[in-house]
Amino acid sequence: MELDVNTFRHRSWAEPWKVKMVEHVKMTTYEERKKAIVDAGYNTFLLRSRDVYIDLLTDSGTSAMSDRQWAGMMMGDEAYAGSENFYHLEEAVQKYYGYKYVVPTHQGRGAENIISKVLIKPGDIVPGNMYFTTTRLHQELAGGEFHDIVIDEAHDPESEHPFKGNIDLNKLEALVKKYGAEKIPYVSMATTVNMAGGQPISMANLRELRAYTQKHGILIIHDMTRVAENAWFIKVREDGYQDKSVAEIVKEICSLTDGATMSAKKDALVNIGGFLAMNDHGIYEEACNLVVVYEGLHTYGGLAGRDMEAMAIGIGESVQDDHIRARIGQVEYLGNRLLAHEIPIVKPIGSHGIFLNAKKFLPSVPQINFPAQALAAAIYLDSGIRSMERGIVSAGRDKATGDHYYPKLELVRLTIPRRVYTQAHMDVVVESILEVYDQRNRIKGFKMVYEPKYLRFFQARFESLG
Ligand code: F0G
Repeated sequence: MELDVNTFRHRSWAEPWKVKMVEHVKMTTYEERKKAIVDAGYNTFLLRSRDVYIDLLTDSGTSAMSDRQWAGMMMGDEAYAGSENFYHLEEAVQKYYGYKYVVPTHQGRGAENIISKVLIKPGDIVPGNMYFTTTRLHQELAGGEFHDIVIDEAHDPESEHPFKGNIDLNKLEALVKKYGAEKIPYVSMATTVNMAGGQPISMANLRELRAYTQKHGILIIHDMTRVAENAWFIKVREDGYQDKSVAEIVKEICSLTDGATMSAKKDALVNIGGFLAMNDHGIYEEACNLVVVYEGLHTYGGLAGRDMEAMAIGIGESVQDDHIRARIGQVEYLGNRLLAHEIPIVKPIGSHGIFLNAKKFLPSVPQINFPAQALAAAIYLDSGIRSMERGIVSAGRDKATGDHYYPKLELVRLTIPRRVYTQAHMDVVVESILEVYDQRNRIKGFKMVYEPKYLRFFQARFESLG
């Protein structure tokens, strides 16, 4: 017997794995949730996880590890120096990403701290395809000034541009003309752009950026936190890549950059870990000097040997086509169901979550009353689903004027952990958002009653205006 080999014609995005162990979650009452969110100052970061039913706060460190990763954890070589697991990690980074040198760090921001200190001098300019909170802060703490050079479409939640993570080379050229290339140590290039809604950069754009920066002696430092997810979008959206594997595309992306910071808590499927990677030996040496100050010896960087082993195995799993197809398939399933009900979300659907457009969801709540913060709290109150504000609270304040940044994007992020929740869980998310949408006129916004100095979204507290 023979069947047609075109097997994907009738197939959904279904996962290439099955469940071996379960973790119970608490089902809460409305009164319990009301008390929990008030106690948390209406900030979902301040909720206790035991009060959360479906946790879509972040995809960072929240993914399920595979049986192979757990088996690898048992093979931890917990030597202070020269752990075998470090060499496995180094091999994985060289094999799958192609960078020559790797310095482990406890997570992504550890790597951001080191690369910022190594490459940025006070007064330098650091352009990037939109900002990420911790990345920009480390650039600023090192004395740099961040400039957003992402294409305008990235700031428009309605734009259906397939590569909203692309860099506008005219914006980069303007910075080079104004400040001089010698003031720009590197371009900070992220795959995918988290704050824009998990939007990818195209290979064509990256190649143009590479040509331009090489001409001007500017490096490209790659925030490769979600590089495999970006590669999937290149595979399905960019001409010439349909027949390439995600693994091949990932390696090509990395080959067009000089170094990378990685939060392995996302793409690489571990609960903790990260690294800094690069091709230049001089930069590697300086990073080794600093990692011992901030993280630990250059062969463990704040991690246990077992963590590095899980990361090495996770990197290999993360670039498999079947894995990424299902990962992004699940995100698209949720997004398409919301779109079918005309819920305002950022389009196109991005890599790691669905981003509700709070300005459109709650048009009568002005940005200064934190509509996205209020919407995230309302969703929790309805169903125990935890999401995250990505708007004016996350954007923080302008260092020079002290005023809030007023970002165009005022979003609530429903971030999907990898390999954790089922399609039925996604259906519950849709039901809850429809419920809150029906009752949106009850949401009046917030005032901020406590504001921390750095990365305020983590610990700020609010009171409800109604
Ligand atoms: N870069 C990007 C694009 C990120 O999304 C994150 C973390 C980091 C760097 C920093 O890495 O957390 O390991 O220190 N993003 C998480 C999130 C926190 O929820 O989006 P980290």
